[in-house]
Amino acid sequence: MKPKVLITRKIFDEALKILNGKVTYTMGPDNRSLTSEELCEKIKDKEGLFCLLTDKIDRNLIDAAPGLKVIANCAVGYDNIDVPYALKKGITVTNTPGILTETTADLTWALLLATARRIPGADRFCRMKHFKGWKLDLFLGQEVTGKQLGIIGMGRIGRAVAGRARAFLMDVVYSDPHRLPQEEEASLGAVRVPLDYLLSDSDFVTVHADLNSSTRHLISREKIKLMKKSSILINVSRGPIVDEKALTDALEGKKIWAAGLDVFEREPEIEEKLHHLDNVVLLPHIGSATFATRIKMAVMAARNLVQVLEGKTPDNPVHPD
Ligand code: DGY
Repeated sequence: MKPKVLITRKIFDEALKILNGKVTYTMGPDNRSLTSEELCEKIKDKEGLFCLLTDKIDRNLIDAAPGLKVIANCAVGYDNIDVPYALKKGITVTNTPGILTETTADLTWALLLATARRIPGADRFCRMKHFKGWKLDLFLGQEVTGKQLGIIGMGRIGRAVAGRARAFLMDVVYSDPHRLPQEEEASLGAVRVPLDYLLSDSDFVTVHADLNSSTRHLISREKIKLMKKSSILINVSRGPIVDEKALTDALEGKKIWAAGLDVFEREPEIEEKLHHLDNVVLLPHIGSATFATRIKMAVMAARNLVQVLEGKTPDNPVHPD
């Protein structure tokens, strides 16, 4: 008998092709996530789970599935899963590292430039037919070239963002628990500095850290206070790393110049006031959202899932520190 698998929400045909013939799957709807109750009910008799970052895979759910062998997350981040508990129960957890690095770095830069040069506001201005002619001080933004970029979290995506900064002749500083090898620092032109220095000295701060107990609210109210009045904060990693309420207050009080956010503390909820502020650009968690990358992610997750169910070591097991 083929192993039974739950796919929590509709996925691409390219990924289903990997599963066809190897597993029997039940797939959730296209238009919404399953509730915790629905997940617990549907997982009961399954050996495999293909899930998304919007699915909370906690102890309750893991306990509801005594035969579960693998949780294949279709994301590089896995803060939605209680990984220590799953591992303790002998369940393999997999993720999708590597393939979304460049796409997410591109989006980071799109957001940084859009925020610095006020592109969404300028676009709205034209659509509202307010453009009545060139003006010396129309939509003035912040200079990017030659400025200092501070990168928090120098993993794959942080490094890809740093690589792109070279084209903008920027000074790059970074904060990370681990120092990069010297040759890599040299090739990226990146210098490791303490977080407080990074925040107080950088013109742009981009966040690429993993979400865990040590990074939750890493960018707290106190840390935001260290930032320059002209600085811009970009978050494309996980919302809870930044205290969203404190950031909103800082933006409202013009304590920093602007922010670009692809992720939010209580997704899909967004701090109400942010909707009304001109100095923030808001995106709906689309860092890796290109056709090619999202398909690759789903295919990778499907492969990992099948590998475990066939008794093989998956390509991308999660080994938390
Ligand atoms: C991830 O993979 O963790 C991103 O947030 C979505 O691509």
